[in-house]
Amino acid sequence: PPPLMSVDGPHRKRQRPQQRPASMRALRARLDGLREQVLDGRAEAVERQRALGKRTARERLDLLLDEDSFLEVDIYRRHQASGLKVSESRPHTDGVVAGSGTIDGRRVFVYAQDFTIFGGSLGAAHAAKIHKVMDLALNAGAPLIGLNDSGGARIQEGVPALDGYGGIFRRHVAASGIIPQISVILGPCAGGAAYSPALTDFVFMVRETAQMYLTGPDVIASVTGEQVSHQELGGADVHGTRSGVATFVHDDEESCLADVRYLVSILPPNNMEPAPEFPACDAERDERPRLAEIVPADLSKPYDMRAVLAEVVDDGEYLEIHEHWATNVVCALAHIDGRLVGVVGNQPAVLAGVLDIPASEKAARFVRFCDAFSIPLVTLVDVPGFLPGTGQEYDGIIRHGAKLLYAYCEATVPRIQVIVRKAYGGAYIVMDSRSVGTDLSLAWPTNEIAVLGAEGAVDVLFRRELAAAEDRVRLRGDLVAQYTEQLMHPQYAAERGLVDDVIDPAWTRAVVAKGLAMLRTKRKHAPRRKHGNIPL
Ligand code: HXC
Repeated sequence: PPPLMSVDGPHRKRQRPQQRPASMRALRARLDGLREQVLDGRAEAVERQRALGKRTARERLDLLLDEDSFLEVDIYRRHQASGLKVSESRPHTDGVVAGSGTIDGRRVFVYAQDFTIFGGSLGAAHAAKIHKVMDLALNAGAPLIGLNDSGGARIQEGVPALDGYGGIFRRHVAASGIIPQISVILGPCAGGAAYSPALTDFVFMVRETAQMYLTGPDVIASVTGEQVSHQELGGADVHGTRSGVATFVHDDEESCLADVRYLVSILPPNNMEPAPEFPACDAERDERPRLAEIVPADLSKPYDMRAVLAEVVDDGEYLEIHEHWATNVVCALAHIDGRLVGVVGNQPAVLAGVLDIPASEKAARFVRFCDAFSIPLVTLVDVPGFLPGTGQEYDGIIRHGAKLLYAYCEATVPRIQVIVRKAYGGAYIVMDSRSVGTDLSLAWPTNEIAVLGAEGAVDVLFRRELAAAEDRVRLRGDLVAQYTEQLMHPQYAAERGLVDDVIDPAWTRAVVAKGLAMLRTKRKHAPRRKHGNIPL
């Protein structure tokens, strides 16, 4: 039997030389015919794609990009491999449509894997096309968007396919923090291929059709005996709620690609240019009385931090990052007075807003993204502490919590902290406190900043006295009241310069907008080093 594959090897079929037509008209007609054939694709494969509930690569690009803006590269590229299966068919594009277009008039570079050709699998030529647009994107300082729909490494090609993936991973890392990188998963994305999205800034997934996993259900069944479906293992909801691999989850390709367009339209194109600005809207004079009604003064009562967020930002509009994962912390992109900001907020409505491992990871990655792309940070604090328990400790909350601490300490963008209610212990420090480098710290009169909550503090400080007391309950109540009055009154931190002002909640939006204006020209340069060593 012939070998499975040999690049440019002896089994490559000789191509019959084509007769060159004599006239320009005939040459153009031949070109048109060929292009049409490439654009139309194989009818039965396109039908199958539709039957799977998926659009073709070109239909997806039509939805993603501004009309008529797409400039394709390497449309005629074909694999040069030979051997079993490979040499029989050498379709143009090699299963990926690559090039550049615009979104809202702003330049982006894209590739869309075409499942109708070799299942969108990645061989050497396919990879080289992706490398090409990645290089173009980085050199042009424009966002990169990958539409993934692929069976993974092209099995027949062997190691050149793996080499192609390595080249993609290396380029993602080289472009990280320089241009925004977005992955959209619209079909299978399995095996090592999943490390491409994993290295990008945002991952979109579509329910039912998208799947991501390192080892599929069959391998799992044979290794561990576990029975699991493709969707249960790596569907959009699993990655959007449990693993945190998917940043955004959508019901269909249309809404998914519309949201990719929206995200690109608000992001800066690269780390050297600012994000697009919207018209200023007099935020510095905008009183929001509702803010004082949303948050109960009773520290133990929950509320939805997203309602606070909506009052603080322009038009109540924000794009939530990881909306369904680690929901005890809220991360969102929004505008204040027309300028893009990243907002991080504890969420008292979920787990009382504690920080745990997923929340720390989610917020840390978001803070680092904002910092890399010069997006100012606004942090809304209402946090009782880190989640206690053996589970968290054994899984390394120390290490993971340190990621968030590291991310804030490292951030050089304008930073504003708003302490809405409680902020205790290490979690107070981590949530962009003065000590880790916030530029402006504001607190509401409901703020309660302390090493521990009053009850916990009294139990530790007065253990002996409480044990010996005749009326323990009364003594404890008195001590808690004293502790609260002396160490937890709203001005305590402000008197010590750890909070810059205690503000009326209704004026939060206005004061934050003023603070952002004040910090607009902030420049901060860290000393040179190869890179820090963030606890991973
Ligand atoms: C070559 C592939 C392929 C692959 C699919 N095809 N995956 N060809 N290499 N990796 C081809 C099929 O042969 C078929 O060709 C066509 O694509 C459609 O595939 P179907 O199986 O008919 O589609 P479907 O039933 O929808 O199943 C999709 C699938 C399945 C779940 C993705 O095709 C599959 O399991 N593929 C193999 C996945 C895999 O093991 N990949 C390698 C992973 S390891 P015809 O001619 O019949 O239309 C990896 C390493 C990367 O990727 C490492 C990076 C560091």
